[in-house]
Amino acid sequence: MRARLERDFDRFKRGLPRDFPAHVRETYGIDLTARYLGELVPHPIGKGSGQLSLNPGQLDDDAAAGLAFAVLKTVIAEDATGAQAMAAWAIHETKMKVERRRAGADREGWTVTWKGRGWDRPFGEYLALLRAGRDLTRAGRLLVVPSVKYHLPRLAEPFREDEYRHTTGLLADAWGDPPLLLEKDFSPTLAGDELADDRAQILRWLREVPGRIRAASPIPVRVAMKLMNARFDDAFQVEMMNASTEADALVCFNRLFDAARGVAYGGWDLSDRNLNVLETQLTSHASAGTPGLTGTGNICSGRMILEYARRGCESVQLHTFFQLPLSEYAATHGSRVQRALHALVFHPRDGLIAVMLEREARGELERQGGELRFLDLRAHAYHAG
Ligand SMILES: Cc1cc2nc3c(=O)[nH]c(=O)nc-3n(C[C@H](O)[C@H](O)[C@H](O)COP(=O)(O)O)c2cc1C
Repeated sequence: MRARLERDFDRFKRGLPRDFPAHVRETYGIDLTARYLGELVPHPIGKGSGQLSLNPGQLDDDAAAGLAFAVLKTVIAEDATGAQAMAAWAIHETKMKVERRRAGADREGWTVTWKGRGWDRPFGEYLALLRAGRDLTRAGRLLVVPSVKYHLPRLAEPFREDEYRHTTGLLADAWGDPPLLLEKDFSPTLAGDELADDRAQILRWLREVPGRIRAASPIPVRVAMKLMNARFDDAFQVEMMNASTEADALVCFNRLFDAARGVAYGGWDLSDRNLNVLETQLTSHASAGTPGLTGTGNICSGRMILEYARRGCESVQLHTFFQLPLSEYAATHGSRVQRALHALVFHPRDGLIAVMLEREARGELERQGGELRFLDLRAHAYHAG
């Protein structure tokens, strides 16, 4: 198996097989099937919402590369008059800087420094992008899901239901056949905003927002809540997860916020925090009612995917690893997403195949019907937890 993996890694530097999950299944007896927002996907690797899902061309490239799913850039909700309670998040900024970020003395990671926020073009253009995504989803080429930042009130205020209704109605119309899948973003800049100073206020959002979206939608809807890293301790982060039981899925967790520089960041500090919280939550009494989990943050190897999966994640969302300088990828051909998939799945030491075989060899993952299954990692996590 090891020799075959070395050979595959080498020959796929020029391009992955068209259906690489089928190849992995036939060659290694590994079933990479994963789940995002209740949908089965051929493998766990998707693209997180952001600057890499702004136009149909990017989605076409992702489908061709064999990505499992893509979440569109976050759009800011609006009411019928075009008013946006969260308008402060609809600002324009194009420049991104991919930088090294050190954690502790010895670990170099990557982060993307960027001062922008949500979708800054007209809502109608977002609907056109969603229709392009819908067509790819229907064709079975790429599962595409929109992301929204809806109004979040202060404790004493009501939710602006007209904003929820108008925005969700437009998205549902553009999508067509139910269910509508969507993510609600709680971003790092929100975590850094004074709106997020109050714990009770945050917990109310988490308890009530899924129901608000459901009530506002003309068709059945599944809601993933992309939780922020709040500026409180790990115990509160667990409390946030446990308050979100009405959601269909949780994306854990968006980037950290550097208050001094006023920017979000990732790297090892982010994955350390996320993995630590996921592990603590797994052993909390409330974990049985936890919605499906998707991991995000500093995922640059199959080994890191496994770390999230061992703590209950059924899939993962990446952004930074799709933006590195070309010299950082072993593959010599293809888009950055293709080159990233090559490393994440086939790297002979740290790729997903290698680390699943490693777990099997240690007696920590067993074959079922002759196959190692990615989704069994989650089952093991809950069993152990
Ligand atoms: C430049 C940039 C823009 C982003 N924009 C959004 C966004 O609009 N909505 C959102 O939910 N997440 C956004 N994210 C967060 C990513 O989707 C992802 O969850 C996060 O960066 C952690 O993954 P990573 O370490 O692989 O980058 C953005 C990230 C970056 C780097």
